[in-house]
Amino acid sequence: MDVLLGAQWGDEGKGKVVDVIAADYQVIARFQGGPNAGHTLWIDGRKHVLHTIPSGVFRPETTNLVGNGVVIDPIIFLKEFEAIRDLAPDIHDRLLISRRAHLILPTHRLLDAASEAEKGDERIGSTLKGIGPTYMDKTGRNGLRVGDLERSDLMDRFRSLVKKHYRLLGLYGTQELTKEAEQEWLEAVRKLRELKLVDSEHVLENAFRAGRRVLAEGAQGTLLDIDFGTYPYVTSSNTVCAGACTGLGVPPTRIGRVIGIFKAYSTRVGSGPFPTELHDEVGERIRRSGNEFGSTTGRPRRCGWLDLPALRYAVMINGITELALMKSDVLSGLGQVGLCTAYEIGGQRTDHVPFDISDAHPVLEELPGWGELSTSGPLPDALERYIHRIEETVQVPVRIVSIGPERDQTLERSSALKEA
Ligand code: IMP
Repeated sequence: MDVLLGAQWGDEGKGKVVDVIAADYQVIARFQGGPNAGHTLWIDGRKHVLHTIPSGVFRPETTNLVGNGVVIDPIIFLKEFEAIRDLAPDIHDRLLISRRAHLILPTHRLLDAASEAEKGDERIGSTLKGIGPTYMDKTGRNGLRVGDLERSDLMDRFRSLVKKHYRLLGLYGTQELTKEAEQEWLEAVRKLRELKLVDSEHVLENAFRAGRRVLAEGAQGTLLDIDFGTYPYVTSSNTVCAGACTGLGVPPTRIGRVIGIFKAYSTRVGSGPFPTELHDEVGERIRRSGNEFGSTTGRPRRCGWLDLPALRYAVMINGITELALMKSDVLSGLGQVGLCTAYEIGGQRTDHVPFDISDAHPVLEELPGWGELSTSGPLPDALERYIHRIEETVQVPVRIVSIGPERDQTLERSSALKEA
């Protein structure tokens, strides 16, 4: 099994790369996160945003699996399912959902909002999709799972969890759910039950035995990982490579290539440390030309230069074997491009990511910028030099360079570096 994941703070362009390389795989599997993710794919000039459904769904020959590590909001899931039916008419047969995946209840969303409101200035900037409270119920052993939809006492389990949530919401002083919202959710789970619910760890084991190639598709990014990200300004799941093992029930020995996706610059949405953030017109220009607005929430993303200590950290934690550089066209036309090669923290210089980077100042190198990019010729020398500088620092080859949103604006690059 190969793993594809974000090497920054999410929104790196994972959806596009999965869609492009999905032709090499028979199974695409999501292993964590939920509708907080927004994987954008451009097909024939039409934009599609996937939140929970894996990005291989537009390739008719692939099976798409929502793994046990994912949290599912039935309402959002079904909307997404209906919205892509015209482009993927056989989706019903190619979409499998793990019975072990946890369900997001409408009260989880209310709890998310109440918890964020309570935090005031310390708020995380959550997408408010109920992700954190759902994972809390998972680890607290209270959660409702997809497999519970097939049990006769589903309603009792639902009512008991909702009752617990009301008690918590009462502490926050928040209102109860409307009857309509509850009915909408129950209607959605009735439909969800009609989709293909599976014991996905066995499905994957059978796929491996049959020699089928599996790609695990990560959501969010390494620096949003619950353990290794910029805690507490992180999401609630393991976004790193190890999360693909627990989120799918696949042993580590099955993992082959680990493809790290990163942008030519950095972005982050929500609060938290961001050493290379640009507060000037260059940051604004990147935001505009990269259309850096959240695909799930529409919020403007914070923009900054590429952070090499953070990228090297992502390579280390995930065992990344190759990199895909995205959105290099967004920096086209800049005279100089900044690259953060180290941090200065409390007067000390380091090229590692320590426990706390909230006071890290970037040590910047300026490199010449590049002009318009095209698929018809080689990459401009300045961009090649920029890529060499990245490879030299992280010691992993950049194999894919994306120069625009469409499938065919993706170049394979041969690197002087051998795969790790
Ligand atoms: P949550 O996962 O919705 O609770 O959000 C926690 C933090 O992760 C917030 O800063 C979000 O903006 C961020 N986040 C969650 N999902 C994504 C994503 O798919 N892309 C980028 N940031 C995300």
